[in-house]
Amino acid sequence: MSRIILTGDRPTGRLHVGHLVGSLRERVRLQDSGEFDEINIMIADAQALTDNAEHPEKVRRNIMEVALDYLAAGIDPEKSTIFIQSMVPELTELTFYYMNLVTVARVQRNPTVKAEIQMRNFEASIPVGFFCYPISQAADITAFRATHVPVGEDQLPMIEQCREIVHKFNAVYGETLTEPVAVLPSNAACLRLPGTDGKAKMSKSLGNCIYLSESEADLKKKVMSMYTDPNHLRVEDPGQVEGNPVFMYLDAFCRPEYIEEFLPDYASLDELKDHYRRGGLGDVKVKKFLLSVLKAELGPIRERREAWEKRIDDVYEILRSGSEAAEKKAASVLSDVRSAMQIDYFTDRRLIDAYAGR
Ligand code: TRP
Repeated sequence: MSRIILTGDRPTGRLHVGHLVGSLRERVRLQDSGEFDEINIMIADAQALTDNAEHPEKVRRNIMEVALDYLAAGIDPEKSTIFIQSMVPELTELTFYYMNLVTVARVQRNPTVKAEIQMRNFEASIPVGFFCYPISQAADITAFRATHVPVGEDQLPMIEQCREIVHKFNAVYGETLTEPVAVLPSNAACLRLPGTDGKAKMSKSLGNCIYLSESEADLKKKVMSMYTDPNHLRVEDPGQVEGNPVFMYLDAFCRPEYIEEFLPDYASLDELKDHYRRGGLGDVKVKKFLLSVLKAELGPIRERREAWEKRIDDVYEILRSGSEAAEKKAASVLSDVRSAMQIDYFTDRRLIDAYAGR
């Protein structure tokens, strides 16, 4: 069986380091592993509109931002198809058919949807389109016969719901759709990178994100003002490492080479942590180390982005031809779906044959 990847992001802002460690780095690794027959990466503008219906300009503006972030992070348009969701209308049609296979109660139980409804104060008035986005996400995945979906941990309930839709569809209409699995990063620290203020989630409105395209000056400002252990007041005080965002970032980003290069007095990150726990290690020193690590990680990404920013026409063409290729793939699955559901009236003579008594 072919190994196919489908994944994507909502274009509601620039991508940040949470996206990078939660999923983007994994996608690049899978892309470069050569173990996949096909890689499809989608800018989910239609899904972004489900809770931004009144701000289409925001979604539109961020399509290029996300495309540039993908290319900067190392998504290679020679190996991966990058496309725009709404340019593949087949996805909408699939969503409409899948809606019949899912109950309202089931979507209400989806933990990610639940959390998002709360976050957006939608309790009293949930837009129908927003409510249905897990179903549209199943359409995105199945339209490419995706077997692997590299995503952040918050998306696991979506993949689970997709698998249920696949089962149900195949049970009702016959074996047609492919069941996907989620792919998470193996490093647990990468699953949930907190905001720079220590809040569980990075979000633009909280101003607690470090963006992939961050300038060195802003990166420095953000790292040096990061929240740490509030009880670690003096350098001599013992400090807490667990739940301390600076160390959580180091867990996600630090490699042994960085200790060797930037903190040669320590043998490992664990030794640094021990020193912090004992007391006698100041926050400024740890933050400076994190800054060096992030500069080393984000520098090449920023450089690639600057190079692509000078080639915007090429980026536009990557999206255009990617969307065209994506539509071809989705159309072929939609045709299988229509024939399984026996609604392909003009390519299948069964409709007329029944009446003609043949
Ligand atoms: N829900 C994802 C996000 O919020 C975007 C997305 C849409 C997606 N369709 C998908 C991810 C299909 C993986 C597979 O970023």
